[in-house]
Amino acid sequence: MNEQQRKQSTVIKDKDYSHYFGAPSLKEAKSRGKASVEYHHDFIIPDEFRGMGEGKKFYLRTYGCQMNTHDSEVMTGIFMALGYVETDDMTDADVALLNTCAIRENAENKVFGEIGHLKALKRTRPDMLIGICGCMSQEESVVNKIMQKHPQVDMIFGTHNIHRLANILNDAYMSKEMVVEVWSKEGDVIENLPKVRNGKIKAWVNIMYGCDKFCTYCIVPYTRGKERSRRPEDIIQEVRLLAAEGYKEVTLLGQNVNAYGKDFEDINFGLGDLMDEIRTIDISRIRFTTSHPRDFDDQLVEVLAKGGNLMDHIHLPVQSGSSEILKKMSRKYNREQYLELVEKIKKAIPNVALTTDIIVGFPNESDEQFEETLSLYREVSYDLAYTFIYSPREGTPAAAMEDNIPMTVKKVRLQRLNNLVNEIALEKNKAFEGQVVEVLVEGTSQKNHAVLAGYTSKQKLVNFNGPTESIGKIVKVKITKAKTWSLDGEIVE
Ligand code: SAH
Ligand code: SF4
Ligand code: F3S
Repeated sequence: MNEQQRKQSTVIKDKDYSHYFGAPSLKEAKSRGKASVEYHHDFIIPDEFRGMGEGKKFYLRTYGCQMNTHDSEVMTGIFMALGYVETDDMTDADVALLNTCAIRENAENKVFGEIGHLKALKRTRPDMLIGICGCMSQEESVVNKIMQKHPQVDMIFGTHNIHRLANILNDAYMSKEMVVEVWSKEGDVIENLPKVRNGKIKAWVNIMYGCDKFCTYCIVPYTRGKERSRRPEDIIQEVRLLAAEGYKEVTLLGQNVNAYGKDFEDINFGLGDLMDEIRTIDISRIRFTTSHPRDFDDQLVEVLAKGGNLMDHIHLPVQSGSSEILKKMSRKYNREQYLELVEKIKKAIPNVALTTDIIVGFPNESDEQFEETLSLYREVSYDLAYTFIYSPREGTPAAAMEDNIPMTVKKVRLQRLNNLVNEIALEKNKAFEGQVVEVLVEGTSQKNHAVLAGYTSKQKLVNFNGPTESIGKIVKVKITKAKTWSLDGEIVE
């Protein structure tokens, strides 16, 4: 499909938009075409839009995961190419844009709260533009609600067309109506978009877009579209450039990075191959996120075991320790297979740090099934975990499942799990007391500006006293005290 055709079929600009894109429906999303992805290297900002932002300020607030963070870096690049200047004061902005997340209900509630604040602001500054983009914009019910209840919003666009920001802004300036441009189908891969990264030390690099896993609780395959991998040469070139610019760390990004390359029709090239190439680039640290246990193959384990600039930390979301729940979640592995993979990784990469994501209170999760999550947690002995209470997402299969577990029970489970997470995190951190670790210094600590902060290869946060000249460098720090979420230390070199 070329750009023009796609726009005609999916751009929605009038109020009768219901037939242009559906609510996230599993059937529709799963039947998405196998149409091959086109790669575009010819992105330019049309001349007619240049200077659009001269003398104007933009405010961009980002919710959600690294994918959104990086999309915001692209949008910042476009804003700046148009002449806008960034402000972190919403009340001072000519354009305020919220890059939203739909992963759980409370993520959406936060955004609606902020949209409410913007309403008051717009009353005092009627000329300002308010925009909503990101994953929530891909949900029909959200677009409906904004159109009906929040007329102060001037533009809504989704995750597939952020490269059209200049056009959308232009439409919003020209139109009295709310401009809504949401593509229900994912687009092609657009390379060479302008990017203004946040900081000069660590960089996010997308290696793929979308997700085809369709875990039954998850909205992402609907909001981000089907899996599309960037070509290896484009990724490698981007990482080389970042190394040349002095970046110390890159994190390769995707919702399910282990599926990298599976969509290539002409080459056989997966995440293991990509990591093996990227590790030869002269950059100090390479990470990747997020891994799906199902696609984590032996080749990748072998490559990671080579160490060097490949960091000894893997985020490996398990979601549940119960095979029955995993089946209902459609995670496509069971407890035993997950534990086998963990064993394999631990054997190949001694002292590897493992972190995970866990959902408690999946529909009808029994006490026994929850206990299995606790026992798996102990068995793996994770360094840290991000834990969530299950939140039903409209249109996903799990949202239609019967759930007789009261919220009070779910909250107690979360608390018990968090207690275990904290207990083991502290235990693991204690092992570092007295050790010397390498820390990539990122800046001063958020809590105390007299203290420097950075991360170890295992992604442990370290706070220590040292000279500010060490910011941006990798220094050796002796750990003096372990805490649950961080380590304290003293610089030794
Ligand atoms: N692609 C990544 C994670 C995406 S979302 C992966 O597969 O691991 C990040 C985490 O949010 C998930 O790992 C999961 O633990 C959690 N999550 C996703 N959907 C959720 C829901 N409906 N309710 C609660 N937690 C959810
Ligand atoms: Fe969601 Fe599963 Fe895809 Fe992760 S792998 S983004 S949890 S559907
Ligand atoms: Fe949220 Fe979208 Fe990321 S739903 S977690 S911002 S992919």
